[in-house]
Amino acid sequence: MDDDDQLEKLEQRTNWDGWRIVKYQGFWCPLPFFRAALSAQKYFKAKDSDIILSSLPKSGTTWLKALAFSVANRSTYMSNIDTTQISPLLTSNPHKVVPHLELNLYLNQENPDLEQTSAPRIFSTHMPFHALPNSIPKSGCKIIYICRNPMDQFISFRHFSLDNKFGEEDRHGGPVELDEAFDMFCDGVHLYGPFYEHITGYWDAHLKNPDKVLFLKYEDLKDDIGLHVRKIAEFMGCPFSQEEEERGLVEEICRVCSFDNLKNLEVNKSGSFNGRVKNSSFFRKGEVGDWANHLTPAMAERMDKLINTKLEGSGLTL
Ligand code: A3P
Repeated sequence: MDDDDQLEKLEQRTNWDGWRIVKYQGFWCPLPFFRAALSAQKYFKAKDSDIILSSLPKSGTTWLKALAFSVANRSTYMSNIDTTQISPLLTSNPHKVVPHLELNLYLNQENPDLEQTSAPRIFSTHMPFHALPNSIPKSGCKIIYICRNPMDQFISFRHFSLDNKFGEEDRHGGPVELDEAFDMFCDGVHLYGPFYEHITGYWDAHLKNPDKVLFLKYEDLKDDIGLHVRKIAEFMGCPFSQEEEERGLVEEICRVCSFDNLKNLEVNKSGSFNGRVKNSSFFRKGEVGDWANHLTPAMAERMDKLINTKLEGSGLTL
């Protein structure tokens, strides 16, 4: 069955922002990225040394990209703070530095050559755990997942989508009012949703194999970023040495990757990603709990109940 035949058989909906989404392997894949997702599944060959960063959109992907890249490449860019080479993060948006499998690499080429990228290769994806290219769970590569309070993630995505003109040609009507959008979100009808299945899929994978899947929460990183930079380094198999600790490398990575630093870089104030998405739109407020400025207490109560039901018995709290 070719891609078009496969697509024809799948359920399609219009997301609240007007994007067409297609239900593929149990998740709502944005139609413009459907073929790229299939290509990534078919052709991506993970290497044992790869690091895969995964998330739902607006859960802290940009931050995680900057952190993972800085940790992995610290001997090149930050080994000696006086003579260090300039990190690409200072001149490029983190999404350019760490490419996305289905939104980027497999979007314009069915089978791009990724062999030339030096190890450790770091890629990102929004695909749920069960839909990852087979070679990812099968190889020795490592996965770092970041999740976020769903109400903050929802509000963040709404701003991002409404602020950007990207994908205008892909939109079919929309955007709908906030309460209708929230209804759809709670029903799991949103990009890469249902969010609760996305999150619990990676949570279960982490419980089964914590050396393979690191599970992070945006709120925990906000709470103590130094602790999490050390955790990421240990997980990646390159813990900070005593000497690196004494030289203040952890603090330097936290500073370079901080919201204020990245947001105020020229490239992130003015540039655009793929010519379509404003780099600035990846840096809005960077706060925990902004949902309270947009959602009613009744909506919050509904979400609490939903989360409690969906996460019951998992040991996970959001
Ligand atoms: P807000 O819209 O709530 O401000 P993603 O990177 O997955 O697209 O998520 C974007 C969200 O992460 C936005 O949230 C953005 O402001 C926030 N963010 C981006 N970079 C960050 C950083 N370095 N530190 C903390 N939050 C960051």
